[in-house]
Amino acid sequence: MKMKTVSSAVLRRFAALGVILLCASTLSAQKRPYPTAAQLAPTPPMGWNSWNHFAGKVDEADVRAAAKAMVTSGMAAAGYKYIVIDDTWEGQRDAQGFIHPNSKFPDMPGLIAYVHSLGLKFGIYSSPGPRTCAGYPGSYGHEQQDAETYAKWGVDYLKYDLCSYGEIIHKAAGDDLAKNLAMQKAAYEKMHKALESTGRPIVFSMCQYGTDSVWKWGAGVGGNLWRTTGDINDTYRRMAAIGFNQAGLAKFAGPGHWNDPDMLEVGNGGMTDEEYRTHMSLWAILAAPLIAGNDLSAMTPVTLSILTNREVVAVDQDRLGKEGDRVWQQGPLQIWAKPLAGGAEAVGLFNTSYNPHIVTFKLSMIGFPAGAHLRDLWKHEDVQATNGEYTVELPRHGVVMLKVTR
Ligand code: GAL
Repeated sequence: MKMKTVSSAVLRRFAALGVILLCASTLSAQKRPYPTAAQLAPTPPMGWNSWNHFAGKVDEADVRAAAKAMVTSGMAAAGYKYIVIDDTWEGQRDAQGFIHPNSKFPDMPGLIAYVHSLGLKFGIYSSPGPRTCAGYPGSYGHEQQDAETYAKWGVDYLKYDLCSYGEIIHKAAGDDLAKNLAMQKAAYEKMHKALESTGRPIVFSMCQYGTDSVWKWGAGVGGNLWRTTGDINDTYRRMAAIGFNQAGLAKFAGPGHWNDPDMLEVGNGGMTDEEYRTHMSLWAILAAPLIAGNDLSAMTPVTLSILTNREVVAVDQDRLGKEGDRVWQQGPLQIWAKPLAGGAEAVGLFNTSYNPHIVTFKLSMIGFPAGAHLRDLWKHEDVQATNGEYTVELPRHGVVMLKVTR
């Protein structure tokens, strides 16, 4: 009798386990687990954003033209895939509180479907504050609704810009820095959780201008990339001030979580081609997101060749996901290096002065043997070190970018 009782209890347990397993497998068939950060952004995101060129004037036609040009120009084939509308798309909220685009974007789902039909991905912009930086409605108090709207529209990327939430923090926290930081973290985490709850994979780009050592906590609140600086503009002076100031941040970047020294200005007209090569080289060595900010539908061949230099893009997108750092500096000359998969190293020789300068790169600076192999990534040709040294003239504000292999 006793035996019988035991065996029926065991049977009941097996039956219960079966039901649990069945439920779990049905659930997992319905809802896939949210991708990890490293799956969402295994390498620094590449794409285009409307702000640097179009700013507040951007409309649907501009975005369609950018998406089309990304494909026809060869940018997409070189790795660029996100088409991101920055600030000024936002319209009014309806009676239920859902956001609608303004008259510049009459059919957002249609526009997003068009971008997707080209094989590209789509990004949008908002703020945790009541107003965006350009004064349009932000997500304050509507975070969950906005995340659901973005997911419904088919958004794949969100740039979330602190803007007016900074004032709310300031009012609530005053000089209490710990509270200020806690409020920033909570605001970003709230939107990250809201995005996650939709089940749609959406890359989360944090923009709070690189304050409060965001690189130390950005990943912890769900950021896949975070701005490390204030805004870039289309001058060598500003680009260089930002780019050469990134030293020391390498250890905070990696697959799924990237330092973002702001978008590219390549092709916007304020720098020389050589300065744009410097911009592109430095961003690649920094494993920075490569978000073009020019008018893709009206690029010169030189602009296109800078943005799509496969050997330079490959440095940025290297699967090891290590950010580079400065290894040597003397006066206006700087040498930066980025470890690559397979033990190679990308090296940028930079001249920040108004005059040309000769620089000597020693293989020992990166711990490589004298016989290592060198390739110039802008000339697309192999070059020769002599006795472990490579001496070359750098144009004003110029660069030589090398790949060094053992
Ligand atoms: C700034 C941001 C820029 C751009 C702009 C839009 O705060 O840094 O990249 O998004 O807002 O208003």
